[in-house]
Amino acid sequence: MHIQVIATQPFTDQKPGTSGLRKKVRVFQQLHYLQNFVQSIFNTLEIPENATLTLGGDGRFYNKEAIQIIIKMAAANGFASVLVGQHGILSTPAASNVIRKYHTFGGIILSASHNPGGPEDDFGIKYNISNGGPAPEKITDRIFATSKTITEYRIAEIPEVNLSKLGTTVHDGFSVTVIDPVRDYADLMQSMFDFSAIKRWLATGHRLKFDAMHAVTGPYAREIFVHRLGAPADSLMNCDVSENFGGGHPDPNLTYAAELVKIAYGAQAPDFSAASDGDGDRNMILGQHFFVTPSDSLALIAANARLIPAYAQGLSGVARSMPTSGAVDRVAARLGIACYETPTGWKFFGNLMDAGRVALCGEESFGTGSDHVREKDGLWAVLCWLNLLAATGESVESLVRKHWQSYGRNVYSRHDYENVPAAQANAVIAHVKAQASQLPGQVFGAYTVKTVDDFSYTDPVDGSVSTGQGLRILFACGSRVVIRLSGTGTEGATIRVYLEAFTEDAAQQQLDAQDALAELIAVSHQISLLPQLTGRQQPTVIT
Ligand code: G6P
Ligand code: ZN
Repeated sequence: MHIQVIATQPFTDQKPGTSGLRKKVRVFQQLHYLQNFVQSIFNTLEIPENATLTLGGDGRFYNKEAIQIIIKMAAANGFASVLVGQHGILSTPAASNVIRKYHTFGGIILSASHNPGGPEDDFGIKYNISNGGPAPEKITDRIFATSKTITEYRIAEIPEVNLSKLGTTVHDGFSVTVIDPVRDYADLMQSMFDFSAIKRWLATGHRLKFDAMHAVTGPYAREIFVHRLGAPADSLMNCDVSENFGGGHPDPNLTYAAELVKIAYGAQAPDFSAASDGDGDRNMILGQHFFVTPSDSLALIAANARLIPAYAQGLSGVARSMPTSGAVDRVAARLGIACYETPTGWKFFGNLMDAGRVALCGEESFGTGSDHVREKDGLWAVLCWLNLLAATGESVESLVRKHWQSYGRNVYSRHDYENVPAAQANAVIAHVKAQASQLPGQVFGAYTVKTVDDFSYTDPVDGSVSTGQGLRILFACGSRVVIRLSGTGTEGATIRVYLEAFTEDAAQQQLDAQDALAELIAVSHQISLLPQLTGRQQPTVIT
């Protein structure tokens, strides 16, 4: 095999964010840009003999070109083989499963998750380690450091791989196997959930609507819901993968999944509606005219996990990211199991799961998952809900309302201010930080500030410390306001304000979250001066 060593110059902006390196497609299309980053990943790893790389992406624009480049670079950098999803497709959880099931050395996933795709939009790349999870910070920091000093990259002169044809091709001992991206994942799901019960539930007149948002879960949903569970084909919408996600924003929330929301709130609303994002790791759950916040979804799955075959023996523990509501904490307390609070980012759950300390994890950002893989998993969350609906015979809304009656309700909402100039966003953060020592004890209407801090986390497994993970304003009554800047955007800054108030009062529990939180929202503005400092009166997205 002939290997070319190409001279290159470092780029200064290849710092991986919350979940890999995400940039505009045209940034990735710059000469050597992708190659530099891939070589930086490979230089950081100690690649053993016979190592296999898992490779796939969410099918967005530039996916196929990037895959051909990465295969050639894997060959040149000592990998013995690559497992690549057919047509270059692997959802993020499916890639995690392939890494684990076939014990591959690691994986590269090409995705910018829920960000729009197309020539003018986003592309992304991230490295996952052998446990199937995102590389921890100590690796991503080394990748970034390498990217700043890189002088050359290695690429093999081998023919392009036919990504549409399943099977193995070999060049000078280096093999590439094009695998069915769906089968292994669908088998895993079938082994975890009570498919017979869900089948019966669907066969007895219950209706499901799943929106793949033109993104990667389309083929997975077709196999699982239609072929294996017998749902009618019209249970699926937007299930053909398109390079620009049909021109949409493949983020399953009330704003961007508007088409599905309209159906779920319409006259013919199905019993259950759900959507997933660009790369298949996020989920949104809806009942008839009813939205389930991701934080409540996590708590409810935890409370009822024993109804799901995979968790029939109970959960070892649970974890949530810091901005996620404390609803799951209450469930953990009642079950007598451990509950961990981690920084935002799925990678922080990896050690806890590997150590067997937690089985179920979730984030307010529409991510829920368990230790079956090391990524959050959109379709898995949908199947959890279908399994619970089938096992209990309840509706989505009644399950949630009964949960609130039993545990109390952590009324919750997140307000996002997108595309804010970085200087203004930093000013908001700085303004809150500057008052941190004076705020405790101050009274704002019904709210008395108890503490203000910048969240920091010490990983209980490896002792690593992550600081500066978000400002927390905790009130004496147990309510909180959290303010942090998004780590996943590609344009300007996104300020996220997370609002949470706990109530055991049944009447309060019936209120719309925005109404119940109105005073807390006003207090958050008073303390942060966000409207004054950014000129924004309304959030861009409310979830
Ligand atoms: C990605 C990560 C999540 C994280 C989310 C929000 O989806 O995988 O773990 O919660 O981004 O991140 P952000 O920094 O934008 O709030
Ligand atoms: Zn995603």
